Amino acid sequence: MSDDLQKLKDDTMSAVAAAGDMAALEALRVSALGKKGTITGRMKALGGLDPDARKAAGQALNQLKGAVAEAIEARKAALAEAELEARLAEERVDVTLPARPDASGHIHPISQTLEELVAIFGEMGFTVAEGPDIEDDFHNFTALNIPEEHPARQMHDTFYLPQTPDGARKLLRTHTSPVQIRHMQQVPTPHRIVALGRTYRCDSDITHTPMFHQLEGLVVDEHTHMGHLKGCLIEFCRAYFEVDDVPVRFRPSFFPFTEPSAEVDIGCKRSGGRLKIGGGDDWLEILGCGMVHPKVLANCGIDAEEFQGFAFGLGVERIAMLKYGIPDTRTFFESDLRWLSHYGFAAGDVPSMTGGLAR
Ligand code: PHE
Repeated sequence: MSDDLQKLKDDTMSAVAAAGDMAALEALRVSALGKKGTITGRMKALGGLDPDARKAAGQALNQLKGAVAEAIEARKAALAEAELEARLAEERVDVTLPARPDASGHIHPISQTLEELVAIFGEMGFTVAEGPDIEDDFHNFTALNIPEEHPARQMHDTFYLPQTPDGARKLLRTHTSPVQIRHMQQVPTPHRIVALGRTYRCDSDITHTPMFHQLEGLVVDEHTHMGHLKGCLIEFCRAYFEVDDVPVRFRPSFFPFTEPSAEVDIGCKRSGGRLKIGGGDDWLEILGCGMVHPKVLANCGIDAEEFQGFAFGLGVERIAMLKYGIPDTRTFFESDLRWLSHYGFAAGDVPSMTGGLAR
């Protein structure tokens, strides 16, 4: 090999060995072996030599080309290996560390209760439906068989929004029942839904806040009857309060949108200022329910001769207070961190029917 070729080899080899990353290596490959590379250039120049010299120089060049290509491949492999090692070192995770070293927040009891309700009714085959907080008169009242001038409208202590030029007044929904209407109008029968969310009434004392939460349930099918309503709600009470033999009582009542209507009480015992769910000789009202009024079905375009249904509605704060011994509704919304860390739940406590509702 000529001195000149030897120098080219030494230079190229040491440059390959010094290439710090893939990009530098590739640039080097192009500058040596690419179309306009130094070695390629020399190969092209072979044509001008006489046959003997061409043969010797050609062999030497071929050898050089092979050696350089091999060195580049070896360097490439070494770089890839080093890159992987560096990444592994950088992304190293100590799996023995606690997952949330500084988790100090709590899940609000209302969020927890909503999750519990979804877990229970989800297990029973209900899906969750949604509707807007700002409603119109038709969905909140009229379609639910509460016409203008009906005394039930006064009882709802409605918050109204300013009148629009067309004379309509939107309102903050006073219950979750309008979601029943929207659902029945939009989705083909049969129905099995729960709707959970905020509701609003102009009222504030120890058991009332202007904003509170309700859960609404609706089942409509061809052969739905009062026995289904009772079975569903008794099952719910047992699952929610986690008391297998909690006494449940259905007391006749009135709602414009259900006929017949009932209120559901659960048995409880009060002693020494403490309330115990189940047993005892006292009763606590927990929800309203009934068979969907045929007029309500008709308002949603459902043939009441073919389909019947039941509906129920409950106050989420109320049942959370009963289960978790929270004495005053207003405290739910005071954002007092001491209250939250006392009544709140750990972030990992996701309620489920198999894993338990709340610990
Ligand atoms: N919407 C009723 C209320 O807010 C509750 C209810 C819902 C009653 C469904 C019967 C059926 O008081």
